[in-house]
Amino acid sequence: MVARAVVAGCGGYLPETVLTNADLARSVDTSDEWIVQRTGIRERRVAAEGEFTSHLATAAARIALDRAAMLPSELDLIVVATATPDETFPATATRVQDALDMRRGAAFDVQAVCSGFIYALNVADNFIRLGQSEAALVIGAETFSRILDWQDRATCVLFGDGAGAVVLRAEQGEGTAADRGVLSNHLRSDGRHHDLLFVDGGPSSTRTVGHLRMAGRDVFRHAVVNLASVMQEALAANGLTADDIDWVVPHQANLRIIRSTSSKLGMPEEKVIVTVDHHANTSAASIPLALAEAVTDGRIKRGDLCLLEAMGGGFAWGASLVRW
Ligand code: UT7
Repeated sequence: MVARAVVAGCGGYLPETVLTNADLARSVDTSDEWIVQRTGIRERRVAAEGEFTSHLATAAARIALDRAAMLPSELDLIVVATATPDETFPATATRVQDALDMRRGAAFDVQAVCSGFIYALNVADNFIRLGQSEAALVIGAETFSRILDWQDRATCVLFGDGAGAVVLRAEQGEGTAADRGVLSNHLRSDGRHHDLLFVDGGPSSTRTVGHLRMAGRDVFRHAVVNLASVMQEALAANGLTADDIDWVVPHQANLRIIRSTSSKLGMPEEKVIVTVDHHANTSAASIPLALAEAVTDGRIKRGDLCLLEAMGGGFAWGASLVRW
């Protein structure tokens, strides 16, 4: 028998304010037609003044705990994936810990930008496999609206704010792909590509927060190749094929990337969860938000095999296989 990190509950939270493509076309030289054709995005949510990443994260966490029928006091670990923390320090995870009134265990952040949720899931999964955690909260939460250059039409139309959370509980499994829980995680990074996607500021370099900069076309090209490769690796590591997968839950950056990647794997469109049209790219929050939506509407059911994938700044990318 082996310890498995089984999903006990999942929740998503979006800020109230909706920003449509038409709204953006009033402030930069763009159009609904261009944005929909090139990205699939129709609208995104933007956090209110005074609404921080930790607030979105806490709201998503409360829903996930509720669905798991668990109390914050039962948790012993919180891992928050974010590239837009409330403050440079302390970790946003400790703000969430306090807001939940959780008074034990450990809470810390993981920074892998758009791949953050996969990285955080891997970290929490390792804690559970090693017996260091019995119940962990993994959150992806972002307020990218705060680091966008709202005059740069090539980037400001692409991102949105939000948070998603998953509660993991230690359970014993047989050690086969038939087990429920996280089956395997596959992480990759390549720091040579820094200049293709980065934020031009930070406490140690400019002492400012900075703005997101991206060479979109280059990122696109790398994304399709890297994602297809790491997804294949995840399948092979578990002796599975694309036919065994019930749902692909991709990072939601661009509908064209999602479609190209899944078609490379021979995955039919009906098996791919898409939220990019109404969430845009919420970085580390995009996968848990998509999971929460598909679980709530009844698509993802207990026992379904989900292949999660993401790629972003660094570059950092990865995939996880989770039996729900
Ligand atoms: O989550 C992190 C990972 N990030 C991603 O995965 C993003 C990857 N990249 C992409 O999604 C796409 O490359 C973009 C959506 C960013 C851009 O789409 P594209 O088809 O690669 O367009 P492009 O950058 O090649 O630009 C085509 C044209 C350019 O004009 P010219 O040079 O052909 O005259 C741009 O200036 O589109 C122009 N353009 C726009 N036009 C209207 C760029 N942004 C806009 C805009 N509205 N918002």
